[in-house]
Amino acid sequence: MDALVVVLNLVKHYAGHAAVRGVSFEVRGGEAFGLLGPNGAGKTTTIGMLACLLEPTSGDALIAGASTRRDPMAVRRAIGVVPQEIALYPTLTARENLRFWARMYEVADGEAGRRIEEVLDIVGLRDRAGERIDTYSGGMKRRINIAVGLLHRPKLLMLDEPTVGVDPQSRTNILETVKQLNREGLTVLYTSHYMEEVEFLCDRIAIMDLGQIIAMGTHEELRLQVGERDLISIATHAARIGTVLPASLRALPGVDDVRMREDRLEVLTTTGRRLLPQIVTQFVTHDVPILAIEVREPNLESLFLHLTGKGLRD
Ligand SMILES: Nc1ncnc2c1ncn2[C@@H]1O[C@H](COP(=O)(O)OP(=O)(O)O)[C@@H](O)[C@H]1O
Ligand SMILES: [Mg+2]
Repeated sequence: MDALVVVLNLVKHYAGHAAVRGVSFEVRGGEAFGLLGPNGAGKTTTIGMLACLLEPTSGDALIAGASTRRDPMAVRRAIGVVPQEIALYPTLTARENLRFWARMYEVADGEAGRRIEEVLDIVGLRDRAGERIDTYSGGMKRRINIAVGLLHRPKLLMLDEPTVGVDPQSRTNILETVKQLNREGLTVLYTSHYMEEVEFLCDRIAIMDLGQIIAMGTHEELRLQVGERDLISIATHAARIGTVLPASLRALPGVDDVRMREDRLEVLTTTGRRLLPQIVTQFVTHDVPILAIEVREPNLESLFLHLTGKGLRD
């Protein structure tokens, strides 16, 4: 268990306002870790401190063993940051922007040209790289930001809500690109207020609200915290249901309740879709047709609601 990132009780106050109130977590090498929280939760402030752009009020973080307070240069070498706001020259082409950033990141001159083409390939914009940035859509600019963050081959890529305000095509491209980079071994720290994105990308998730982490774990661990049960809804012909099938479903281990709703049977279970084969077998055994099956799981949105009494998106 080598932690690439160790966050130790980070606190940030802005003129008396506590934006981050004691945040601690670890990210292991190769992992994709998500910070999920609504606007104002403190995600950007946390990323800012990890990226050595903001000085913590107290606490520290170690990235690849280097302290953000004592050795910010080593931290900067280890990380690539994709910020929310775009830091690109509008009148230069994408390739020229990357050349500028390659110099900033001290990518060796001999390697820079090749590396720029590589990162353009990764974000799928090599064929447009000769065009000026001010002709780019917001989503394309965001993809160039990711390319910039990758130039110096960081161990850790931090992305702060990279899909906010971008077109759907770029959104998909960004999510797929990050997923692929993580598959190839890059450690990822990803912030979002979109539940689906952290579910898609992240091995472990910390849920933030009002400057604190209020829940942390794998998707499955967080789901179990909700204490809600899965609902499996099976559409059939009402006249065929009878009484034997509901009774035999009720008798299956893991089934909490079976409800009849006109032309549907609803099975409430704590073991989720793992029970599906046994449920289907019961229908077959009792010769009751299945027209459709739907599984509704409690999700991170319901966990957030459960913990805070409000939704992720206001
Ligand atoms: N430069 C700043 N000065 C004062 N307050 C700030 C500043 N930046 C952020 N905040 C406040 O800190 C809290 C956390 O903000 P932020 O880290 O941007 O949250 P998130 O990225 O999760 O939306 C919010 O209440 C925000 O208004
Ligand atoms: Mg933010």
